[in-house]
Amino acid sequence: MKFIVTGGAGFIGNNIVRQLLKQKHTPIVIDSLYRGNIENISSLDVEFHKVDIRDFNQIRDIVKNSDGIFHEAALTDVQESFTRQQEYIDVNVKGTENIFRIAKEFDLKVVYASSSSVYGNPKKIPIAENSERHPINPYGKTKLDDEFLAEKYSKDKVSIIGLRYFNVYGMGQTGSYAGVITKFINRLKQGKSPLIFGSGTQLRDFIFVEDVALANIAAMQSNVKNGFFNVGAGIATSIEQLAKIMIELSGLKLEPEYEKALDGDVQSSQADTSLTESILKWKYSMELREGLSKIFHLT
Ligand SMILES: NC(=O)c1ccc[n+]([C@@H]2O[C@H](COP(=O)([O-])OP(=O)(O)OC[C@H]3O[C@@H](n4cnc5c(N)ncnc54)[C@H](O)[C@@H]3O)[C@@H](O)[C@H]2O)c1
Repeated sequence: MKFIVTGGAGFIGNNIVRQLLKQKHTPIVIDSLYRGNIENISSLDVEFHKVDIRDFNQIRDIVKNSDGIFHEAALTDVQESFTRQQEYIDVNVKGTENIFRIAKEFDLKVVYASSSSVYGNPKKIPIAENSERHPINPYGKTKLDDEFLAEKYSKDKVSIIGLRYFNVYGMGQTGSYAGVITKFINRLKQGKSPLIFGSGTQLRDFIFVEDVALANIAAMQSNVKNGFFNVGAGIATSIEQLAKIMIELSGLKLEPEYEKALDGDVQSSQADTSLTESILKWKYSMELREGLSKIFHLT
């Protein structure tokens, strides 16, 4: 089948493209190349359109003959979102509404990237999908606005599934958003200690990018028409623990270094994945240590 992948030159979108190719589908990539990497695409046999998701008419023309849309394109840097709020709203919210409008017109299913950032600082972990949504940074707010739009269009009979990714890691991460693993690796490769912002007690749920791509395809192929689903491993790891595992994998004799905490950084994040497992029939497969050693040896 022919599937659109917006943001297909980026980290997660590109992994969806690769998974679609493996499964003999035909991906069509739309990406402005604002942050993605053209080499992610040029090395693959796929149709590519360098188009901005804010351009409704161009997107409509590309999408109209497809069988479904994976929507990954977004601005993804939490720190940057504080200083460029309007641009974040334009791309992440208005751009996403373009996708939903076009899906409605051509009766296409959309599986799109929401985020665990919609929860903000949760009252308890693991976080179930029906927990309160209180994002604590402008990026997270755009993701919540997308969810409101998804709810509105879903009521209008458009099939939209929002996947709330937790901390995605793997090869080829381009953005600085949630890039703690990439940043630690980059420092360790230079023989430097991982740099921890804050106390290091922050908890994160790390999920391997190939597992995320498979969750997207499971959602597209399922009979489920609407809803939001957590995509994480369901395991909480502290940033300090992560740094220690990565130092150990590097074989270096180092201790982590600490810096002042970042604004808008969530304290604890861990997915309750029971709904995703029972409804979408998806569960993570890559253990953190194994995933880390894989990317360590490939970078
Ligand atoms: N990486 C994570 O841990 C994580 C966690 C939660 C949610 N998400 C969401 O997953 C999606 C993919 O994230 P990623 O980590 O692959 O980021 P990424 O920055 O690597 O990929 C985003 C892609 O979107 C493209 N893009 C940006 N603005 C565009 C525009 N106006 N028009 C067309 N293309 C545009 C970029 O060029 C890039 O290739 C995003 O929606 C992000 O918010 C990511």
